[in-house]
Amino acid sequence: MTPVHAIEITDAKGTSRSCRKLGRATEYVHKIAFRVAINYIVSMLSIVTLISGRGSNFEAIVKMAQKDHWPVKFAGVIANHSAAKGLDFARSQAIPSFVIEHKEHVTRESFDAALSLQIDALGADLVLLAGFMRILTPGFIRHFEGRLINIHPALLPAFPGLHTHERALESGVKEHGATVHFVTEGVDEGPIICQASVPVLKGDDADSLAARVLSAEHQIYPRAVKWFLDGRLRIEGNQVKLQPPESQFFKL
Ligand code: GRF
Repeated sequence: MTPVHAIEITDAKGTSRSCRKLGRATEYVHKIAFRVAINYIVSMLSIVTLISGRGSNFEAIVKMAQKDHWPVKFAGVIANHSAAKGLDFARSQAIPSFVIEHKEHVTRESFDAALSLQIDALGADLVLLAGFMRILTPGFIRHFEGRLINIHPALLPAFPGLHTHERALESGVKEHGATVHFVTEGVDEGPIICQASVPVLKGDDADSLAARVLSAEHQIYPRAVKWFLDGRLRIEGNQVKLQPPESQFFKL
């Protein structure tokens, strides 16, 4: 192979020889570029995101990935009903979007089986629950174990389940927040990847507190996803160790 810097254009004869060299060199450069591109694509992990609503967490993750040039493929977004607002953002980014209406499935098992098939067809390495308001069956969770992550709007194990902001206000806690965790079979359980706390302020209502927590969510969910993509997360028992270690708790 002739490296590019060996090309010289001299006289007519030399020029034709140089052109042949230039042709070979160009071919060589194209082959290398092709190989680099293939390696890049093959090493890219694929993310599939499940949403039910506005999808602001999904949007925060995609925007961070774009800003920091993560080597990742957003292989698809799946919503459990067609009115999910987050589908609009997915479409605006040309991310394949799908609707699997849960109401069309008589059982949770049948819905989860359809969901699972679609996620597998998209080749997901990582599945993100981003405001996905369905309880998943044990079979589904086992199938994606270790690559299924959720964000919950509370400092788990406090306030699992719904209406976390109302319950936080009622209980009088002075700090509230959000948790990113691997999904296991219990609802809002599973090894915690990271958490962020925000203060509960005098005069807060559920909406103002929810807005403060959501802004924290948008900071920690992309961070947790990047840790996963970088292979920095080790599940040990019910804990997640970050390698190399760094704080997994943020006071915002
Ligand atoms: C977030 O608060 C998330 O923690 C909870 O549902 C909300 C979804 O918001 N599970 P969005 O759809 O990401 O905007």
